[in-house]
Amino acid sequence: MNTSRAVNIEDLRRAARRRLPRAVFDYIDGGADREHTLAHNCRAYDDIIFRPRCAVAVPNYEMRTTVLGTEIAMPIILAPVGSSRMFYPRGEEVAANVAGSVGTIYTLSTLSGCLLEDVKKATTGPAWYQLYLIGGHDVARATIERARLAGYSALVVTIDTPVAGMRERDLRNGMKELVTRNPWKMLPFVMQFAVKPQWLAGFFSDGGMMKFPNVVLPGEGPMLYADVGTALEASVVTWADLKWIRHAWQGPIVVKGVHIGDDARRAIDAGANAIVVSNHGGRQLDDVHATIRALPEVVAAARGQVEVLLDGGIRRGGDVAKALCLGARAVLIGRAYAYGLGAAGEAGVRRAVEILRADLLRTIKLLGCPSTSALDRSYVEVPAEWEARVK
Ligand code: GLV
Repeated sequence: MNTSRAVNIEDLRRAARRRLPRAVFDYIDGGADREHTLAHNCRAYDDIIFRPRCAVAVPNYEMRTTVLGTEIAMPIILAPVGSSRMFYPRGEEVAANVAGSVGTIYTLSTLSGCLLEDVKKATTGPAWYQLYLIGGHDVARATIERARLAGYSALVVTIDTPVAGMRERDLRNGMKELVTRNPWKMLPFVMQFAVKPQWLAGFFSDGGMMKFPNVVLPGEGPMLYADVGTALEASVVTWADLKWIRHAWQGPIVVKGVHIGDDARRAIDAGANAIVVSNHGGRQLDDVHATIRALPEVVAAARGQVEVLLDGGIRRGGDVAKALCLGARAVLIGRAYAYGLGAAGEAGVRRAVEILRADLLRTIKLLGCPSTSALDRSYVEVPAEWEARVK
């Protein structure tokens, strides 16, 4: 694909759909159950109305900010996206490389197809490691040590995954059968791959990865794709675990998956340095509020003690601006760059970030706001019922 033709993230989404087998595209694109939250995450931005200040002369517009003391070129961070190596050869390394070159942070998922050490080497920028407690504390301790040695600067602990969400598209596409490597079980589902020869060639030239090399289980080696469902169920992260992680890792901890103010307080009490308002991109519990709607309550509960970030539904620079107006320090993008990765590898990720960066810059210019960090409530009108949730 000629990525310069992509005008917006939806164009990259369509291109990803063309290049990827259905099962892989749907893994990125799909959400849990009825996919209400998946849709609300995007649509809720429509309910926020800008209040621009016109005829404002600004000599220099500024998008740089700091997150946990690290300077980044724009308030947009790459979120952890599991199995990115399935979307494109060495997908996590490709995305990390782009993040570094545009001056932002890449977050590597525990459920990565590439070694965490290789991913860190692939970027010139800062990187965070997203931790699941798969395999228990001993496995996590070993991974935390590897992440420290490799130079990851923060741990992102995801707390909304006591069990994998009900992804109906994955079930229909045979994701379960495909990872068992039993040819008879796979058979009904292989046609979707046969019609995407370009993807297939890339997948096999990359080693056809079906493992998670950063989850090394004692006596078993790297965890297989086939085992991820049961492994997640056995690895629920509790507040007590978070306190354990607080001792095992000396650097900053980002708690991801906070929906409500009470959990923000619990995260802070357990030692979080930052919080991500996240519903896992609508992939876990369906029918929860869109993250942008949950944000004001969490920001109020955080009382300025920790930085509050947000992910979910970001498809335009205006969405980023709205999240910053409501108190997010920065946002994380997942699908927005994953579509680019699936569509065209490095060029696609670069284009996704460039679209959002240019959009955001244009938005603050049109708002008459000199910098992204100066965005606040005065630039937006929010529905009255959203305010009612803020205690
Ligand atoms: C993994 O965390 C996923 O959402 O697929």
